[in-house]
Amino acid sequence: MIHLSRPDITEKEISAVVDVLKSLSLSLGPKVPEFENAIAKYVGRKYGVAVNSGTTALYLCLEAMGIKEGDEIITTPFTFIASTNCILMARAKPVYVDIDPVSLNLDPERIEAAITPRTKAILPVVVFGNAWGLDRVVEIAKKHNLPVLEDSCEGLGTIYKGKKVGSFGTMSCFGFYPNKQVTTGEGGMILTDDANLVDICVSLRNQGRGKGGGWLAHERLGYNFRLPDINCALGVVQASRIDEFREKRSKVAHTYLRLLADEKRIILPTEPENGQMSWFVFVIRLAQKYQQKHRDHLLKSMVEKGVQVSNYFPPVHLQPFIAQQFGCKLGDFPITDAVCQRTMAIPFHNNLPESDAKIVVDTLKKCLDELDRL
Ligand SMILES: Cc1ncc(COP(=O)(O)O)c(C=O)c1O
Repeated sequence: MIHLSRPDITEKEISAVVDVLKSLSLSLGPKVPEFENAIAKYVGRKYGVAVNSGTTALYLCLEAMGIKEGDEIITTPFTFIASTNCILMARAKPVYVDIDPVSLNLDPERIEAAITPRTKAILPVVVFGNAWGLDRVVEIAKKHNLPVLEDSCEGLGTIYKGKKVGSFGTMSCFGFYPNKQVTTGEGGMILTDDANLVDICVSLRNQGRGKGGGWLAHERLGYNFRLPDINCALGVVQASRIDEFREKRSKVAHTYLRLLADEKRIILPTEPENGQMSWFVFVIRLAQKYQQKHRDHLLKSMVEKGVQVSNYFPPVHLQPFIAQQFGCKLGDFPITDAVCQRTMAIPFHNNLPESDAKIVVDTLKKCLDELDRL
């Protein structure tokens, strides 16, 4: 089986974790600020707040921004479910706008038509590591005096128009699940330049404890969203390798782009101009003539032949619990709907050998031949 994704763990990560175990300082120890500072410094932001997932990072940002029941957040329906779940956790309403068909990111030019007096923030997503349009989202948000919560869970290491991803939004979030560019096993990080927002997030992640207050003094309703020192130690080593990871991933992506250059039955992902992309996954799209049933057949036959693949992403607005709650239906966001029916992620990680990439491509071509005979 060729795996869809694999973390890149060396002896350095292993000994960093073992050192924490030997130190007996397992939570709220020195590795937490070390990891926060490493990521904040890399991205060029003043503050980082480490939490236990990308989802909780996003949710804490919304809470720190004061998002309340009934507020509207403009976002994309083409993303991982957590980009919407954080909005629902804050009891706010996701207001979707359709995507740009090339980058697959929220189309900034559709934002203004979706703004109402209840709009309280914009939540763009760096889909698959592509930051196209993020600068424009920020520009539009500024014009309307709205904060931007940048969901960059898939984009650590990407540079766009001279700026690191994570430095665009009022607040930005990364996720460190094992398929991400940098992993801590599970984990997330909030980044911002606003000290007040940091204080709120630090309190919220730690049971609502106040600055300088006692262990049993709680100023607000809070959570346990802390990230243990073991995970932070792993993150410190991984963070020191971000540029190495971007290079390795770019090499694998360009191998696929070369091997698939002449394959007319698929649309290949593209990198935006003006930047260096930190590839998260490699997602191909079936050509226009194919339908969802073809893509689904392809998913099945690739797995049967030993190649792990996945349908990145099914449309968020058509997940039953969201469609029911907000009355969304197929056709509401036609670009997203059409893209979702034909996309497929193929195996992609730092150390995917060229020989495996060739097997993936040969298998894909065989499966496409099968499709054409259906
Ligand atoms: C776009 C996006 N947002 C949010 C998340 C949530 O991160 P986590 O799985 O760490 O909660 C992920 C990752 O899985 C993601 O891909």
